[in-house]
Amino acid sequence: MYRIVVFGLTALLTFSLAIIANAEMSEKAQMGRELFSDPSFGGTLDPAKASGMSCSDCHADFDESATPDGRIRAGHSIVGVPHRGEAKGGMITAEMFARTAGGGGFCYQHFLQKIPSDKVDPTAIPEDQAEALMAYFGHVSGDNRGPEFEIAMLDKDAASAAAEKIIAMEGDSQRGWKLYGQACNVCHPTAKKSGIGSQLVRRRPPRDLEKRKHQIATYVRKGGFVMPFFAEDRLSDQDIADIVAFIAKLVEEQK
Ligand code: HEC
Ligand code: HEC
Repeated sequence: MYRIVVFGLTALLTFSLAIIANAEMSEKAQMGRELFSDPSFGGTLDPAKASGMSCSDCHADFDESATPDGRIRAGHSIVGVPHRGEAKGGMITAEMFARTAGGGGFCYQHFLQKIPSDKVDPTAIPEDQAEALMAYFGHVSGDNRGPEFEIAMLDKDAASAAAEKIIAMEGDSQRGWKLYGQACNVCHPTAKKSGIGSQLVRRRPPRDLEKRKHQIATYVRKGGFVMPFFAEDRLSDQDIADIVAFIAKLVEEQK
C-alpha cells in the first residue's frame, strides 16, 4: 500500500514537472528562441557585414549554475533579464529597456554586425525582433532572477597589468586545453585554424614568446574589436594562465 502511494506521488510529480517544462511557448517567444541562435538573425542581416556570431555563442538561455553544460561563455545567461529593468550599468534606462531587448540591441549591432561600440544605437534592433527576444527571455526566466554580476570593463593599462600577473603564474597546459575547448573554441576552432576569430598559432612562430603570451592574456581580459572580454567570474587568472600555457605549448611544438 505504502509503495503504491509513493509510486503514485512520484508519477504525479513527474507528470506535473513535465507540464511545467512544456509550458506553452507563445509564437513571439518561439520567434525569439530562433533568433537567439541565428547568425543571420532571421535572414535580415547583410551577409557582408555579419560577424557569424549569434547570441547563443556568448549567452546561455538556461540557468548555468543549476544545470551547467560545461561551456564558458563571455556573457551571462539571459535568464532573469526581464527582472533587471535596466542594463549596461544604467546606460540602458528603464524607458529604453524593452525596446533594446534588455540591452541585447547593443550586442545585435556590435557583435553580430561589427559596428564599432561608440557608433552603436541599441534601439536599432527592429521592434518586432526586440519584442520576440524579450518574450523568449520572459519564457525561460519565469520567476528566476538570474545571476547577479557587475560588469567591470578594463582599460588598456588595467588589462596589461592583469596580463602581467597572469603570465607570471605557472600554467597547466593540459587543463588549458580543456578550458580552451570550453571558452575559445566556438570562435577559434582549435588554435591552429581561423573561424569567426583569428588563427592563434600561426605557421611562423612569434619572435618573442613572452610578449605573445602577454598579448593573449591582455586580449582575453580586455576583448578586441568584436571579441568579447572574459571577466574574472568567467575565467580566473589561473584559468587564463592555463590557456596561455596551452597555446604556448603548441607554438613551441611548431618550431
Ligand atoms: C561576442 C559575444 C556576445 C554576443 C554574440 C552577444 N552578446 Fe550580449 N553581451 C555580451 C557581453 C560580454 C555582455 C556584457 C554583460 C554580460 O556579461 O552579460 C552582454 C550583454 C547583454 C545583455 C545585457 C546585460 C545583461 O545580461 O543583463 C543582454 C540582454 C544581451 N547581452 C543579449 C544579447 C542578445 C539578444 C544577443 C544576440 C542578438 C547577444 N547578446 C549577443 C556578449 C555577447
Ligand atoms: C565569440 C567569439 C570569440 C570568442 C569566444 C573568443 N574569441 Fe578571440 N577573437 C575573436 C575575434 C572575432 C577576433 C578577431 C579580432 C577582434 O575582432 O577582436 C579574436 C581575436 C583574438 C586574439 C587576437 C589575435 C591574435 O592572434 O593575437 C586573441 C589573442 C584571441 N582572440 C584569443 C582568444 C582566447 C584565448 C579565447 C578564449 C579564452 C578567445 N579568443 C575567445 C572572437 C572570439
